[in-house]
Amino acid sequence: MLPSKLHALFCLCTCLALVYPFDWQDLNPVAYIESPAWVSKIQALMAAANIGQSKIPRGNGSYSVGCTDLMFDYTNKGTFLRLYYPSQDDDHSDTLWIPNKEYFLGLSKFLGTHWLVGKIMGLFFGSMTTPAAWNAHLRTGEKYPLIIFSHGLGAFRTIYSAIGIDLASHGFIVAAVEHRDGSACSTYYFKDQSAVEIGNKSWLYLRTLKRGEEEFPLRNEQLRQRAKECSQALSLILDIDHGRPVTNVLDLEFDVEQLKDSIDRDKIAIIGHSFGGATVIQTLSEDQRFRCGIALDAWMFPVGDEVYSRIPQPLFFINSERFQYPSNIIRMKKCFLPDRERKMITIRGSVHQNFVDFTFATSKIIGYLFTLKGDIDSNVAISLSNKASLAFLQKHLGLQKDFDQWDSLVEGEDHNLIPGTNINTTNHQATLQNSTGIERPNLD
Ligand SMILES: *[C@@H]1O[C@H](CO)[C@@H](O)[C@H](O)[C@H]1NC(C)=O
Ligand SMILES: *[C@@H]1O[C@H](CO)[C@@H](O)[C@H](O)[C@H]1NC(C)=O
Ligand SMILES: *[C@@H]1O[C@H](CO)[C@@H](O)[C@H](O)[C@H]1NC(C)=O
Ligand SMILES: *[C@@H]1O[C@H](CO)[C@@H](O)[C@H](O)[C@H]1NC(C)=O
Repeated sequence: MLPSKLHALFCLCTCLALVYPFDWQDLNPVAYIESPAWVSKIQALMAAANIGQSKIPRGNGSYSVGCTDLMFDYTNKGTFLRLYYPSQDDDHSDTLWIPNKEYFLGLSKFLGTHWLVGKIMGLFFGSMTTPAAWNAHLRTGEKYPLIIFSHGLGAFRTIYSAIGIDLASHGFIVAAVEHRDGSACSTYYFKDQSAVEIGNKSWLYLRTLKRGEEEFPLRNEQLRQRAKECSQALSLILDIDHGRPVTNVLDLEFDVEQLKDSIDRDKIAIIGHSFGGATVIQTLSEDQRFRCGIALDAWMFPVGDEVYSRIPQPLFFINSERFQYPSNIIRMKKCFLPDRERKMITIRGSVHQNFVDFTFATSKIIGYLFTLKGDIDSNVAISLSNKASLAFLQKHLGLQKDFDQWDSLVEGEDHNLIPGTNINTTNHQATLQNSTGIERPNLD
């Protein structure tokens, strides 16, 4: 089929998908805050509507960046992650961004659209790459600080590469986990060893709320599983660092043994977006091996009230301007206790999807209309978030780098930043005494 015909077919499907399930009165910006589920739907859908300018940025640091996937063991209780790391300069091709068609089907399911939309997304994005050398050799001669990264609801391990690659280019090893709690739009594992051998994957799709089901108990349970998965990923990497022989279930060219003695074992942090931001908070409260955390536009609803007082580590909230709302900010503020290191900044003109690679995968107009992009340029937004993160990490992991040149960003000192938040919570203090799940939460 000719590309132009494909495009026409795609537009047709997109239009059908858009018109059918949505109520257009939802386009009211107030409704956006009350029930943004539709926004996420259209956002991810529209990400697929234009390919012209899809370019995920290279890292700004001085290290070349490699990428591989690691699964161990093969069950859905095991660890599955995408690893970004400083690499040797050698001629490996770029990394396939979304490596299986089932992720597109999962996205279309998450969006509530016809499976055909998933198929078509796959056609458009199935061959898109991200600028990291697939299975390149690890750069040797240095121990690297380690970041565990946790994705948002309806997302998966590969679509935060602009963040993972930038951190790796600055000398971090980044492990982006794929959660098996039913919050990823799709993920896979293997039923048994013979399934591994013939490559027969078992796919696990997004677990949606049942009719009438209370949301808080589900989300809180998922959150606890997510935190366990982050701790387990950390343990696995530290074991490999110690020399434990681990066979990657995925038969890839990258030899996991290269990671032996590669980790700076007491310089470990956790970063996550949205549901992953809540995961940062839960994980810090459970696992003191993580020395600090960064929550990117955290969705706080899943966090239980008992957790807020149990986070001794430094914590940094980097928020978008458009996603945040009073009850969410009030929960964040519960973490601000005396003698605890807490920071919060808001990126002016930014939207929730500014932290996800999709912000780079669409044209300006489509992206703006459907809030994959904000008023702010996507490159400027990610750069502010990444630089502020690096400064925070240097300070709290005790790194000997030059990231302190961005210390002022952590305080919100930039014309594109707001120190603290844009949300006025004065009139909302009374409405949020507990987390019964009665409040309608934001999706993703
Ligand atoms: C793959 O696994 C599924 C589920 O366990 C099973 O039903 C199917 O027969 C397997 N396919 C092959 C080719 O073994
Ligand atoms: C790298 O820095 C430039 C200039 O400051 C910025 O525009 C770009 O977005 C940055 N890239 C990343 C991935 O942070
Ligand atoms: C926040 O809202 C309250 C009540 O509406 C108002 O009195 C206060 O001035 C506002 N604060 C800011 C910083 O806008
Ligand atoms: C939590 O708040 C809801 C709504 O205000 C209320 O109905 C419920 O009784 C409260 N639960 C607790 C444990 O305080």
